[in-house]
Amino acid sequence: MASPPDTSKTTKLERYNSYLRRVNSTKLLSASSNLLFRATILISLLLLLFFTLNYPPLSDLSSSSSSSSTHRRLSFLSSALSSSFGGPTWERQVRHSATPRRPSGLSVLVTGAAGFVGSHASFALRKRGDGVLGLDNFNHYYDVSLKRARQDLLRARGVHVVEGDLNDSPLLSRLFDVVPFTHVLHLAAQAGVRFAMKNPQSYVASNVAGFISLLEVAKSADPQPAIVWASSSSVYGLNRQSPFSEAHRTDQPASLYAATKKAGEEIAHTYNHIYGLSLTGLRFFTVYGPWGRPDMAYFFFTKDILQGKTISLFKTQDDKEVARDFTYIDDVVRGCLGALDTAEKSTGSGGKKRGPAQLRVYNLGNTSPVPVGRLVSILEGLLGVKAKKHIVRMPRNGDVPYTHANVSLAGRDFGYRPTTDLAVGLRKFVKWYVGYYGIQSKVNKLQEGSRGGSDSK
Ligand SMILES: NC(=O)c1ccc[n+]([C@@H]2O[C@H](COP(=O)([O-])OP(=O)(O)OC[C@H]3O[C@@H](n4cnc5c(N)ncnc54)[C@H](O)[C@@H]3O)[C@@H](O)[C@H]2O)c1
Ligand SMILES: *[C@@H]1O[C@H](CO)[C@@H](O)[C@H](O)[C@H]1NC(C)=O
Repeated sequence: MASPPDTSKTTKLERYNSYLRRVNSTKLLSASSNLLFRATILISLLLLLFFTLNYPPLSDLSSSSSSSSTHRRLSFLSSALSSSFGGPTWERQVRHSATPRRPSGLSVLVTGAAGFVGSHASFALRKRGDGVLGLDNFNHYYDVSLKRARQDLLRARGVHVVEGDLNDSPLLSRLFDVVPFTHVLHLAAQAGVRFAMKNPQSYVASNVAGFISLLEVAKSADPQPAIVWASSSSVYGLNRQSPFSEAHRTDQPASLYAATKKAGEEIAHTYNHIYGLSLTGLRFFTVYGPWGRPDMAYFFFTKDILQGKTISLFKTQDDKEVARDFTYIDDVVRGCLGALDTAEKSTGSGGKKRGPAQLRVYNLGNTSPVPVGRLVSILEGLLGVKAKKHIVRMPRNGDVPYTHANVSLAGRDFGYRPTTDLAVGLRKFVKWYVGYYGIQSKVNKLQEGSRGGSDSK
């Protein structure tokens, strides 16, 4: 499986050296020329160091505090200096992680692998014997220690996560040079609807520029991989027809996040059309579960309820309850694997299209919208605490009042059938939450205290 080590750089250096030697031998000033050569190398190294420290990578756009970006620059520097990055050890790690352990297993690059869905999906692929290599920039949009903990778990199962940004094209090309990926599961993105008002550019950098950077490398790769990527139910925006079907209009996004996901769907069309890349977009509907995202309501409601803080529940502009089609993580992961398994090969190679390729879009939801009030009462039951609630009218900052998926297309094409209802899924989430944050005993006590009151089915 291992191909011979890349010797092109050493060959070039040797050629340069021998050139210098020839020059030196013809001149009397061989000693000073040697000195000049060394000085040039030293100055280049100093310049490199200078730029590394002073030139923020694109990923910094997604960070909200400058101290964290300084931290990232320093850690980038230290990883550059440790010289493991891109070296033979690094290459071996990358190749080993991406090599399937079963006959005709897939070799998948999972972007956003330290994220919520990415870590679960990487896990599931690895479990059935596929090769998985992760990529994640570990940005500070939410608690990085949670991303690190997911990375640790993945490492323990033999999945390596490369720390890097989608916009680092040389890194991406390098990965495709080292591994002939059969598939890409592209989940890296700037998620969240409300954060777009604070940091709009981070959405452009990851969801638009980052996606294009990935597609550029994928279209030039030989073989071209098939790509499955995360769009979002938010593309339905102000759509009033329900349940949401793939054929419904998606040209009225209510947030910049939605607009960048919609842009992704159009960009996918372009790369499919021009380069023959096989592309499948998955519109996820409010995914929740263990190892979830701290910026999502079910997660911070749990935290706030346990801390006795008042939580804000939204009602719509016309005083109706906000409802979401909450989808359990395991169901979504099964959908991702189904999409990967039914993805046809890309038809192009080395940047040239040879024939028409597959282009698909699917809803991955749960098909039963739940009002947020119901979400809270399930959590109250599980935690044994009555929540302090404050009902407010939903601000017009990007959230939509209602989502409901029609998943019959995914059912037909890869047997997608969501099987976890919200009460069952939230029980698993809460169990993980209290374990992970070490507050098991507190919750047990609370539940004892409330026994006889609201039960915890
Ligand atoms: N969770 C949901 O409810 C939901 C709903 C609809 C769509 N989605 C989409 O599903 C995907 C996964 O979502 P998630 O909930 O796991 O989010 P997440 O934030 O937990 O995971 C995304 C990961 O991508 C990484 N990342 C972001 N920008 C990057 C970049 N430029 N380069 C490299 N890595 C980068 C982040 O560090 C993070 O670990 C995203 O594309 C998201 O938009 C999620
Ligand atoms: C769900 O979508 C399918 C097409 O994928 C359509 O035939 C069906 O009528 C839709 N169901 C509902 C209830 O809208």
